[in-house]
Amino acid sequence: MLKIALTKGRIEQKAVEMLTNCGYDTSELSDKGRKLLFHCPHEKAETLEIVLAKANDVITYVEHGTCDIGIVGRDTIMEMGGTFYELLDLNFGICRFALAGPKGKNIHEGYAHRVIATKYPNVTKRYFESMDTECEIVKIDGSVELAPLLGLADAIVDIVETGATLRENGLEVYEDVAPVSARCIVNNASMKMRNDAVEDFVERLSRQIPQNNS
Ligand code: PRP
Repeated sequence: MLKIALTKGRIEQKAVEMLTNCGYDTSELSDKGRKLLFHCPHEKAETLEIVLAKANDVITYVEHGTCDIGIVGRDTIMEMGGTFYELLDLNFGICRFALAGPKGKNIHEGYAHRVIATKYPNVTKRYFESMDTECEIVKIDGSVELAPLLGLADAIVDIVETGATLRENGLEVYEDVAPVSARCIVNNASMKMRNDAVEDFVERLSRQIPQNNS
């Protein structure tokens, strides 16, 4: 059995759809309730044991070898880093990291001390270092767009997908920071010890990668 950690929420549905198209019986996932572990058999391949987890935990499970494989956004990979193989860009869950803030402001001018709110302090720190610009970073856990509205921060670094959350809160993108999409990652030991099963899975998955962004 191959163990795969799959990120709950935003990219979950598309990932399950890809696994179904790979030939796995994902029926346990269609009426999952509050269950977190699922068995997905395949006529010609090893059964998958699917673990539904938060994005950060997907990386932890894969790094520790609790799971052989993970499906997780590049946003979390960029923030957390870690030691594993990143084998496939799955070309869905497409969005971007952006620096954003109140409309019409210029974050590079007129600030002696700029405060940036984000769920991604490491990505933010690296980005501002790359621009040789100093900032104070405030870590927020959700709805980061609130921070400039409430006066906690001058700008945010966050995921932008449709742009609706920014628009509806009077904010705009100042600069794109990095592109993001779902990735398939593999534990280092599994890559060696379970190579046939891993390769077989990756091969099946790669055939289902959408050609157009979705
Ligand atoms: C993400 C992100 C933005 C929003 C962007 O939040 O942090 O708030 O989605 O999407 P949009 O450009 O399509 O509007 P998420 O929905 O994951 O929830 P959170 O803010 O509670 O983390």
